[in-house]
Amino acid sequence: MRAFRSVLLLSLLLSVAASAQAVAIKAGLHDAINPFQPGSLATAHLHVDSNKTNSNPTLPVEGLDLYFPSSAGSYDVVVFLGGLAGDVPVSMYSDMLRRVAAHGVIVVGVSTYQLPLADMLATKMLLVIGWVHQNMNQLMINSTTYAGVQADFSRGIVLSGHSAGGKIVTRFLEVQCSLVRALVLVNPVDGEDPWGILPGFVIHPPYPVNFTLPLLVLGEGLGPVVAQPGFPACAPAGRNFPRFYNGARPCKWMINATDFGHADLLDAVYVEFVQATKLCASNMNASLAQFSTYRQFIAGTIVSMTRGAIDSQCDAYNYIQSQSQFPAGINTLVDSDLTCSSYARNFGVACPAGVCNEL
Ligand SMILES: *[C@@H]1O[C@H](CO)[C@@H](O)[C@H](O)[C@H]1NC(C)=O
Ligand SMILES: *[C@@H]1O[C@H](CO)[C@@H](O)[C@H](O)[C@H]1NC(C)=O
Ligand SMILES: *[C@@H]1O[C@H](CO)[C@@H](O)[C@H](O)[C@H]1NC(C)=O
Ligand SMILES: *[C@@H]1O[C@H](CO)[C@@H](O)[C@H](O)[C@H]1NC(C)=O
Ligand SMILES: *[C@@H]1O[C@H](CO)[C@@H](O)[C@H](O)[C@H]1NC(C)=O
Repeated sequence: MRAFRSVLLLSLLLSVAASAQAVAIKAGLHDAINPFQPGSLATAHLHVDSNKTNSNPTLPVEGLDLYFPSSAGSYDVVVFLGGLAGDVPVSMYSDMLRRVAAHGVIVVGVSTYQLPLADMLATKMLLVIGWVHQNMNQLMINSTTYAGVQADFSRGIVLSGHSAGGKIVTRFLEVQCSLVRALVLVNPVDGEDPWGILPGFVIHPPYPVNFTLPLLVLGEGLGPVVAQPGFPACAPAGRNFPRFYNGARPCKWMINATDFGHADLLDAVYVEFVQATKLCASNMNASLAQFSTYRQFIAGTIVSMTRGAIDSQCDAYNYIQSQSQFPAGINTLVDSDLTCSSYARNFGVACPAGVCNEL
């Protein structure tokens, strides 16, 4: 553990030195549009990988997919780990992640094609986040086209993960959480995945996790539903999102999109595949437009947490705590526990400060 921390501390120090030389750009540039509506900024995508044909052999993970506003500015950062603890390529979430970026956020999607244990992947995330913190802005400068797109790490980052990726980022926060200001778990699943590839639990009821930070847990009504007799559900009851909500400390919110399935946030072509193969239960009644609204909904919650926890915009939390703000046609059950005054800064009861405390 001490070694992990040293690595991160070292990279933090290096990056402070690097950012001191960076050109002064207006910080935290994002639009002021309702996050459940499409954002106003045009976006771009860069893929970075660590193989020898690429200029980033030091990248401590197989691939990064960056989704970001294509106009020059300094933007908040969200780091996202995909399903199966990173084995589901981030490009399969491209539409949802672009929708986050269009509101003025740089999304760093992490793909890691390995099948290690939660602890090993949590360690890897530590290295990846350290690398991103240290190299992100030089990476954009090197790209030439997007040289003016810069990441603002000064107020921390938001961390997010889907499915078993949610389990890994939770474990990561137990190792090191100082740079992270908020966590968004999207349909998280604990324990072994349905195919038995990734064993290990990170939530141990009745004990809570040993960190506090503003947390949003998104869940899906069809996660525990078996799509095909004889096959496992993609997010079995007892191991899916309420386990994470119950095991977390406040402030925390939980939103259950009751009509949707575990993989329904993927790009449309992959949802079609999931439906055809009956890999996971899916919302069979939703139109393409409704799936698109659903992806915007997920993206909008991530944007709201970013504005609330990183930019201290209290009213951004209204979007995740009041159902009347949600897009029409997304049925939900919501819950929250805002009894976090001991660490919340005094923005008002409904505005938890973006801070991560290890306990
Ligand atoms: C290495 O990167 C190149 C270019 O991105 C890609 O075409 C190739 O498939 C990659 N090789 C491996 C082994 O990942
Ligand atoms: C940026 O380019 C320089 C010169 O080619 C290279 O040494 C460096 O590793 C690159 N940095 C990143 C983060 O891509
Ligand atoms: C948090 O809990 C985990 C076990 O769940 C432990 O390995 C880790 O050392 C703890 N972290 C701190 C800072 O106590
Ligand atoms: C989520 O929604 C589904 C479908 O309505 C329901 O069966 C399940 O109990 C809900 N779970 C939670 C934790 O709200
Ligand atoms: C889809 O519609 C059918 C018939 O109207 C209904 O029985 C089923 O529960 C619906 N499924 C979902 C996921 O909404």
